[in-house]
Amino acid sequence: MAVFSDLVDKVVFISGASKGIGLSIAEAFAAQGSKVIMNSRSIHQDHESVEKVKQAASENGFTTIPLALPADTSSPEAVKELYKTIKNHNDFGTVDIGINNAGISKDGLFIRQKEADWDETININLKGIRNCCQEQIKMMRKTGGSIINMSSVIGQHGNTGQSAYAASKAGVIALTMSLAEEYARSGIRLNSIAPGYINTEMTDNVNDEAKTAWEKLIPMGRIGNSEEVAQVALFLASNCSSYMTGQTIGVDGGWFRR
Ligand SMILES: NC(=O)c1ccc[n+]([C@@H]2O[C@H](COP(=O)([O-])OP(=O)(O)OC[C@H]3O[C@@H](n4cnc5c(N)ncnc54)[C@H](OP(=O)(O)O)[C@@H]3O)[C@@H](O)[C@H]2O)c1
Repeated sequence: MAVFSDLVDKVVFISGASKGIGLSIAEAFAAQGSKVIMNSRSIHQDHESVEKVKQAASENGFTTIPLALPADTSSPEAVKELYKTIKNHNDFGTVDIGINNAGISKDGLFIRQKEADWDETININLKGIRNCCQEQIKMMRKTGGSIINMSSVIGQHGNTGQSAYAASKAGVIALTMSLAEEYARSGIRLNSIAPGYINTEMTDNVNDEAKTAWEKLIPMGRIGNSEEVAQVALFLASNCSSYMTGQTIGVDGGWFRR
């Protein structure tokens, strides 16, 4: 594992941290000695994911206990409350790194798409990131910081049956570029990650036949894992990427060449 010594004791907020990519990111930061705040709608302090993150820290000689804060990030009021809690918390008090990763996918052909599914996808995947960025930027304006927003290769290329998801993820890229320009002089860097096909619960419903077909299409010939996305999040949060902002980094096994 690469060591990013400047991440020790940095406070990192991760949305969608109860499983999948978000959980791997939380574990990776805990292993670097960061102080981890984990968010999702269902998370709580006794959640098994919190135990896993605690273990990742202790296996690497760190004792900080992660803080679990449940909230629906698509609600601006809930996100405001969440950031009030962080500000008033004795052990945390601020956020140095924001990783806005919470997301859903509700797939289906466009002409049959329910308006409610479109709204939910845009509200969680795009507005949720907007809500978190707003509170993070207010917190970081004097100190600087790094924000990483989770997009997708689908936001760069589109995909049949994923119009709402693709639109939300393209929106994340445009939002990130705009905010990167707007807050560069405040010392806040914003970048996005665009994963390809990553093995998580989100992709569990794909049948084996379709998975094999995807593996043939991906130039590297395999599906990625969430730890490979987490390593890129560490890099983008650390000083190793100090002159990078407004970028979208693909973690996709070469999918962009599909
Ligand atoms: N897996 C892939 O192949 C892939 C590829 C490209 C991009 N991505 C993106 O990467 C991110 C993580 O995906 P994943 O595969 O790890 O998904 P996942 O396993 O389904 O996990 C999604 C996480 O988001 C949380 N979440 C969902 N809605 C939320 C909300 N409104 N507020 C707060 N938390 C919420 C979930 O927890 P609760 O249910 O408890 O809220 C869970 O922790 C998503 O943005 C996804 O679009 C994934």
